[in-house]
Amino acid sequence: MCGIVGYIGKKDAVQVLVDGLKKLEYRGYDSAGIAVYGGKNENKRNTCTGNNIVVVKCKGRLDSLQEKIKNSIIRGNMGIGHTRWATHGEPNDVNSHPHVSHSSKIAVVHNGIIENYTELKEFLESEGFEFVSDTDTEVIANLIEYFYKYYHKEEITNAVVNSLKLLEGTYALGIMCEDFPDRFIVARKGSPLVIGLGENENFAASDIPAILAHTRNTYILDDDEVALIKQDQVIVYDGFGNEVKKEVFKVDWDITATEKSGYEHFMIKEICEEPEALRNIINSRIKDGEIVAGDLSIIENEAARVNKIFIVACGTAYHAGLVGKQVIETLAKIPVEISIASEFRYQDPIISPGDLVIVISQSGETIYTLFALREAKRAGARVLSIVNTVGSSIARESDNVLYTLAEPEIAIASTKAYNNQLAALYIVALAFAMKRRTVNDRAALEIMEEIKRIPELVAEVLNHREEVQKFAARHYNSKSVFFIGRGLDYALSVEGSLKLKEISYIHSEAYAGGELKHGTIALIEEGTLVVACVTQNYLKDKIMSNIKEVKARGTLVLAVTQSRFTCEVSRTADIVITIPDMNQLLVPMVAITPLQLLAYYFAVQKGCDVDKPRNLAKSVTVE
Ligand code: F6R
Repeated sequence: MCGIVGYIGKKDAVQVLVDGLKKLEYRGYDSAGIAVYGGKNENKRNTCTGNNIVVVKCKGRLDSLQEKIKNSIIRGNMGIGHTRWATHGEPNDVNSHPHVSHSSKIAVVHNGIIENYTELKEFLESEGFEFVSDTDTEVIANLIEYFYKYYHKEEITNAVVNSLKLLEGTYALGIMCEDFPDRFIVARKGSPLVIGLGENENFAASDIPAILAHTRNTYILDDDEVALIKQDQVIVYDGFGNEVKKEVFKVDWDITATEKSGYEHFMIKEICEEPEALRNIINSRIKDGEIVAGDLSIIENEAARVNKIFIVACGTAYHAGLVGKQVIETLAKIPVEISIASEFRYQDPIISPGDLVIVISQSGETIYTLFALREAKRAGARVLSIVNTVGSSIARESDNVLYTLAEPEIAIASTKAYNNQLAALYIVALAFAMKRRTVNDRAALEIMEEIKRIPELVAEVLNHREEVQKFAARHYNSKSVFFIGRGLDYALSVEGSLKLKEISYIHSEAYAGGELKHGTIALIEEGTLVVACVTQNYLKDKIMSNIKEVKARGTLVLAVTQSRFTCEVSRTADIVITIPDMNQLLVPMVAITPLQLLAYYFAVQKGCDVDKPRNLAKSVTVE
């Protein structure tokens, strides 16, 4: 949700900022802008500016900003930039960031929401400050100017620190002041921020991909910290203004993970990376017939004592949790409650100190999930997080972290991270089951061997992806698509349906097969496309009856099934996509891939912007 970057050094700041923003566009893309400290502004045509800080910003994607930059004179070696996902005020040129203060002394970029901005705005207006935008961010720029003008003429950092004390809400901020050409300031509360440490240059960004081309040495800022960033020095302060000694966090990502590497879209690249991603997590956690969990004290020492598990997450991660609930209950026989993170803390959940809360998040920054985690800790529960982004807020605040090792995921729609979240949940379920002796050694070994096969089974599905592509070419014009399944296939259907609607904009709903006739079947008509998941032997007859019910109403049915059921299923379904035969408990890790491909090829056929669907952002850091 909004991406911010900052740079100070000897390079052309405009280029560094724009390149960084390109890597952050997944966080929001309705407008973009940069502010560069660059001497006198010789051409004011397209810029709003003070004397030394030149700002270029506009509605639309980065391409529009780049076009505007070409027609402006903006240059220098220090600057801040922003790509926006609108919260306060429609996406237009004026509401785009950076925002400058009343006298244009201060420029600010912001990710987050300031909840008390109306009161602050009223106060500042009474002090003579004028506002031009509808945003909460402009309040921050003016508040800093207020403190700077009246109290801290000598030092901008103090003005920032005092302003932050008045802000309620969340922020990651990049701030420049016209009087200080040698520094910019960043601050964080609730929204992610990393500082990149270079040789005679330093960087800041909402996320690591934006700085990866320049440095792998980073400081990860904690909540309430403020950093003063100069070309050859970074000083970090805590919320009380005391200097903090930060540890350097070395990023070991493969840089190609943030490039398309010849694929048309990040989404198809990431789907094709699933076998490799699965191998990463499975091989690191299952070795020589054992689950490797030495770093996870909750599993190693506390598994036997856990009474109840809560799983909390949002969106696709929540859908992974739906599978996780069934698998943990089946294998480890521990009752599991699952909640959507945005509802969790308002439900007044009954958590006891002996309970375990598992939070799942690709980004590790989803605000609802982070708040749920804090709520769980307040209630005395232990928190195990399943997270992809190393060093993220959720990872740092959890008691234990099981990293999903899927490498960065750039496409807005989550794919490989979901498969790896599932793998992590199977590993947790099996580890608990083994510790609690709810599965015997032989059965556990068999499951581990089956899990080891999963990457090659997914690769096999990918080898037949033209079948899905051909189907999409014929049916992408569907107005509405229903997904049905039972048991684990229902959990799978929910994720398949989300993937389709979010990137192809086709209306879609997922239903437990038996539930459809309790109302929703009224929407089914001649020609409606129904995707049926039929992978569970013990539920096969039931779901086949549900398929017959929709077939009787003239639908077109695409079924996803295991090879051994193909003959039977194809007698009723119109088209069958087959996945290899396997242990039915483990099916979701493989059967999701054709559903992801289906969504992808439908969206491509419709000419949609697959990697950046409308209204969405990858990391939801505002409530
Ligand atoms: C959908 C999607 C979202 C995320 C959700 C949670 O494709 O990506 O539904 O799954 O916003 O995000 P994380 O996993 O980062 O907490």
